[in-house]
Amino acid sequence: MAGSSNFLLVLLALLMCSTVSGFFWDKTYVYLRNEIGRDVPLNFHCQSADDDLGVNTIWYNQTYTIGFHANIFIETVFWCSMDWFDNESKVKINGTFEIYHALRDTRLCGKNCTRIAKYEAVYAFDEEDNNSRFVLYDWPVPRQEMLSLHH
Ligand SMILES: *[C@@H]1O[C@H](CO)[C@@H](O)[C@H](O)[C@H]1NC(C)=O
Ligand SMILES: *[C@@H]1O[C@H](CO)[C@@H](O)[C@H](O)[C@H]1NC(C)=O
Ligand SMILES: *[C@@H]1O[C@H](CO)[C@@H](O)[C@H](O)[C@H]1NC(C)=O
Ligand SMILES: *[C@@H]1O[C@H](CO)[C@@H](O)[C@H](O)[C@H]1NC(C)=O
Ligand SMILES: *[C@@H]1O[C@H](CO)[C@@H](O)[C@H](O)[C@H]1NC(C)=O
Repeated sequence: MAGSSNFLLVLLALLMCSTVSGFFWDKTYVYLRNEIGRDVPLNFHCQSADDDLGVNTIWYNQTYTIGFHANIFIETVFWCSMDWFDNESKVKINGTFEIYHALRDTRLCGKNCTRIAKYEAVYAFDEEDNNSRFVLYDWPVPRQEMLSLHH
């Protein structure tokens, strides 16, 4: 009994939300683009509390799209482990970060969030600041030290 009345309340709440904000049911898209370097594949494994997207690879200039409906019960967070081989420093880079976090990204990119993986960092864009690019994630390597060792 309690269960079914809870269900009705949730349904009612959903209906109210969807009329207040028309885009309630719209999917959110997160785009991951590989611009690390020519011929450098980016391997990644992304997941949320609801979805495990498995291991994927994108090549230079390719974009991978994650599409999902925001979870209304818990805040949607997608995190990814990524790895690629840094030909210059001869090291494998492997790091994990939150590619999407509703609390942060609803404001920064709404339902269309672009992330660009570059050699030096992963970038995102801030809609509230004229889509200016900012560092979302620094690859976990003491880059300057590595480079100075080799040069
Ligand atoms: C890595 O460097 C070697 C030579 O230093 C080159 O032959 C090779 O194409 C490079 N690979 C990538 C993925 O850049
Ligand atoms: C490295 O990245 C891959 C994604 O390609 C992931 O599956 C793996 O768990 C990562 N390893 C570590 C030690 O973080
Ligand atoms: C990658 O994309 C950029 C911009 O879209 C383009 O100028 C460049 O030629 C592309 N490079 C390769 C190797 O596809
Ligand atoms: C989402 O962003 C991509 C790349 O920045 C753009 O091509 C596309 O038109 C955008 N879609 C919407 C619905 O804003
Ligand atoms: C917003 O960005 C565009 C493209 O980068 C630029 O041309 C424009 O001047 C910027 N506007 C403001 C108000 O900064």
